[in-house]
Amino acid sequence: MFNFKYYTPTKVVFGKDTEQQVAELIKEFGGKKVLIHYGGGSVVRSGLLGRVTDILDAAGISYVTLGGAVPNPHLGLVYEGIELCKKEGVDFLLAVGGGSAIDSAKAIGYGVTNDGDVWDFYDYKRKADACLPLGVILTIAATGSEMSDSSVITKEEGLVKRGYSSDYCRPKFAILNPELTMTLPDYQTACGCTDIMMHTMERYFTNGGNMEITDSMAEGLLCTVMENAKILKKDPKNYDARAEVMWAGSLAHNGLTGCGNDGGDWMTHKLEHELGGLYDVAHGAGLAAIWGSWARYVYKECLPRFKRYAINVMGVKEEGTDEEIALKGIEAMEDFYREINMPTNLRELGVKATEEDLVTMAHKCAVGVGGAMGSAKLLKEEDMLAIYRVSM
Ligand code: NZQ
Ligand code: ZN
Repeated sequence: MFNFKYYTPTKVVFGKDTEQQVAELIKEFGGKKVLIHYGGGSVVRSGLLGRVTDILDAAGISYVTLGGAVPNPHLGLVYEGIELCKKEGVDFLLAVGGGSAIDSAKAIGYGVTNDGDVWDFYDYKRKADACLPLGVILTIAATGSEMSDSSVITKEEGLVKRGYSSDYCRPKFAILNPELTMTLPDYQTACGCTDIMMHTMERYFTNGGNMEITDSMAEGLLCTVMENAKILKKDPKNYDARAEVMWAGSLAHNGLTGCGNDGGDWMTHKLEHELGGLYDVAHGAGLAAIWGSWARYVYKECLPRFKRYAINVMGVKEEGTDEEIALKGIEAMEDFYREINMPTNLRELGVKATEEDLVTMAHKCAVGVGGAMGSAKLLKEEDMLAIYRVSM
């Protein structure tokens, strides 16, 4: 069992109609001039953005708006947001949307409060020492960015997708109204459930010490998300299922399911980030497409965890060798992905990569992780390439 720090400063306001409280929350955290940042337009179409601006108008809070954060959000818009905030004297950011709008807002926050090029942080050249305060109205349960310390940005030049983490960007508040997720396309709901599970699985499949309380919470979270993902496939307007998944999304990536372990594996995410950067795939679908190949490549070196996962999460019977049980668990996980219409390889993801593309992704991935990474099994560039090849 490892020592750990657990820091989750985000005030969570959960439930129906909670977006009504946005003005008082902004005031509580000192916001006077707000940038409302959002994505490609779903919040305009749903009427949420209009409701939010009406609430701010009524409360006398001035704001500017900036839409256009795309999935796998771009650095170009971050620069635009930084300029806008400086010109308008913005002192508070409100992201209305999903992980992409939130991450883009976090990057804008770094850019406004630190001198120099904000990309330096994502390029691991230096560390930020501040971020503008940020609030979130979440519209998709997925990344956990509403409570996490990370943001992931894609630099258009070279299609480089990189994450940067620091406590400065943890949102001050997160408004979680499960009803706001009911307009999601089924594909995005399934992508979100996959990502939520993966944030816990990355922390679960380790060779570091683990805590029983953490493992039990992780297993409970995984079973809950699986069960409710299946309910949502049949009944997308089911409020309780939306609520279970939404809260799981925040808990899966606020650090809770990693307390006492070695920090996690994270290689499925790193391998996916290259896919997202190069092919602009939805993050959750990319994770599902790569996980099985990663799992089969590493499971023998992390057998106790894979066996435990198979039995406690996937319901595999304790019969046969440990390896047989572990493999049945991996197969059951892939069956679950198929059941919610997620891909289990790159072909199903719609990615037609050449051998040269796979070599490029493996190289960029290795550079991005500083050479080698992984707790279930330490992966070097040649291992990353091998996993990409098998996932075709
Ligand atoms: O852009 P709009 O028009 O809003 O549409 C979005 C987008 O097309 C749509 N959507 C969101 N809420 C909706 C809705 N459509 C209808 N009704 C709603 N209520 O869904 C699509 C996906 O949105 P996006 O914000 O891109 O999804 P997600 O939350 O999955 O974010 C993905 C990004 O976050 C990064 C990913 O790599 C990816 O770039 N991640 C961020 C993390 C973090 N900051 O902690 C951790 C994650 O591992 C992840 O890497
Ligand atoms: Zn993720």
